[in-house]
Amino acid sequence: MMKKSEVVIDKGGTGKPVPIPDPAESFPAMRRAGHLAALTLDYITPFVRPGVSTGALDRLIDTFIRDHGGIPATLGYRGYPKSCCISVNHVVNHGIPSDDKILRPGDILNIDVTVILDGWYGDTSRMFYVGDPGKVPVKGRRLVEVTFEAMWAGIHAVRPGATLGDVGCAIQRVAERNRFAVVREFVGHGIGREFHQPPEVRHFGRAGEGLVLQPGMIFTIEPMINAGGAAVKVLKDGWTAVTRDRSLSAQFEHTVGVTEEGVEIFTLSPAGYEKPPYPADPPPAAGEGRG
Ligand code: MF3
Ligand code: CO
Ligand code: CO
Repeated sequence: MMKKSEVVIDKGGTGKPVPIPDPAESFPAMRRAGHLAALTLDYITPFVRPGVSTGALDRLIDTFIRDHGGIPATLGYRGYPKSCCISVNHVVNHGIPSDDKILRPGDILNIDVTVILDGWYGDTSRMFYVGDPGKVPVKGRRLVEVTFEAMWAGIHAVRPGATLGDVGCAIQRVAERNRFAVVREFVGHGIGREFHQPPEVRHFGRAGEGLVLQPGMIFTIEPMINAGGAAVKVLKDGWTAVTRDRSLSAQFEHTVGVTEEGVEIFTLSPAGYEKPPYPADPPPAAGEGRG
């Protein structure tokens, strides 16, 4: 590990300076922040049930984060009004929790939690099924599985000397070989003492292109994959992004750091809740196969 913080210019990408804080300080802090973000998703899992509102889930999440010494990073961020993002079915990301949005059996949704703990940001999201997983459309379940696989393909491409193009290419390949589409308008991001900072982490690209990864770099990988076309639009609330064709969309997100050996994931689930269905969910009805 290098001795002190430095900066490299993302010549192959945005051209902006990419901060590399001293890993001796940043990695322990990011482990703590990432752990709290992941613990928050574990905590909310059994509450994700038919009949609950996304507004109620947001209040539980806000209280849990504060009870553990953290601050919900999204609340007041660029005017965003809530303590997490909850994006249901054709909502791509940045869904605003609301008491009027009631979860129904067969919905798929993403809950995205970012915490600030001791000045460091941990950012992670997972998909959930509402009610009996057998009630989720087969295409929705397949989309969730493929999006999870795509995120991991991106994470496994991370190592010193690899490029962000390698990461994006790995994600895009998994999505497109399954005839799904990668959203272009939203990207992963550098993170640390700030919520969003360079580099921009695209979920598509060409192997060998873009920023060369170095130990100490910290960023998110958070692909959004659509069952239909890639096009999205933002609703009049200024936040909620939806698929233009109203097809289902899925996303998973981890915060990772580049190590000498490869990659460290800061936001792994302490409970082992990686992807749905989770143990708290009812089992699929007999005869319900996977898509
Ligand atoms: N957590 C989201 C991300 O992964 C960002 C949400 S910003 C908000 O980057 F303002 F919409 F909450
Ligand atoms: Co993020
Ligand atoms: Co996030």
